[in-house]
Amino acid sequence: MFTFHKGDCLPYMKAQPDKAFDLIVTDPPYGLGIAANPVRQKHERENWDSEIPTDEVFAEMFRVSKHQIIWGGNYYPLPPHKNYLIWDKQQPENFTLAMCEMAWTSFDMPAKIFRYSVQREGANIHPTQKPVALMRWCIAKFAEAGWSVFDPFAGVGSTLVAAVELGLSAYGCEISAKYHSAGLKRIKQAVSMPSFYTLPNNRLHPTAFGVGTAAANPLQSNLFADDSPATFGGG
Ligand SMILES: C[S@@+](CC[C@H](N)C(=O)[O-])C[C@H]1O[C@@H](n2cnc3c(N)ncnc32)[C@H](O)[C@@H]1O
Repeated sequence: MFTFHKGDCLPYMKAQPDKAFDLIVTDPPYGLGIAANPVRQKHERENWDSEIPTDEVFAEMFRVSKHQIIWGGNYYPLPPHKNYLIWDKQQPENFTLAMCEMAWTSFDMPAKIFRYSVQREGANIHPTQKPVALMRWCIAKFAEAGWSVFDPFAGVGSTLVAAVELGLSAYGCEISAKYHSAGLKRIKQAVSMPSFYTLPNNRLHPTAFGVGTAAANPLQSNLFADDSPATFGGG
């Protein structure tokens, strides 16, 4: 199942109990002005990336979740840690954009690298859209069956798509109506597709969902949540 809230994540989180979600996987604004960067000319210039989230937002993220994976973790005042995840974007070295991005995690493990071309998933709707494969990789590395995954800064829903593909409950917030609408379409599409991924022993094992009628796929049963007021009523 999924719930994708259209609006500010802070009041949404404030309405949640402590440890409401098993895992936060998120990619908050980095405060770099990337959304206004002329390098990304095909996207509208926007200012949502001019500042990092406030301490209050971070405090809420840690209150409402048991575990955290925070992309752009090197930009925020988070505790020093060895447990970084690195996304090697496979960019040419002389290109103007970063060759990698880093996630801070609350898990106790040595740093890991995921090598996946930034161009591999094709045209992006969102100027800082993360590949679904990246989000699936980092969720599958830690999540256990039955976990809930929450992304307070969901953009066009890459985290939620990945969580749904892995058979997990997905929750997210996005403040921009445009990105929320595009994300909702992607998440609904993921819910309607057979899932090729499972989480046995906390590892990603692609499996053919061969036995599948829609009814046999738990993602396709009756678990759609859309943007009805009842679903998104918290904030
Ligand atoms: C770095 S982008 C996330 C992109 C996402 N990883 C994806 O793949 O689409 C951060 C997103 O946070 C949203 N945002 C900024 N402030 C927010 C807030 N207070 N509550 C919810 N969303 C917010 C922005 O509109 C932007 O889409």
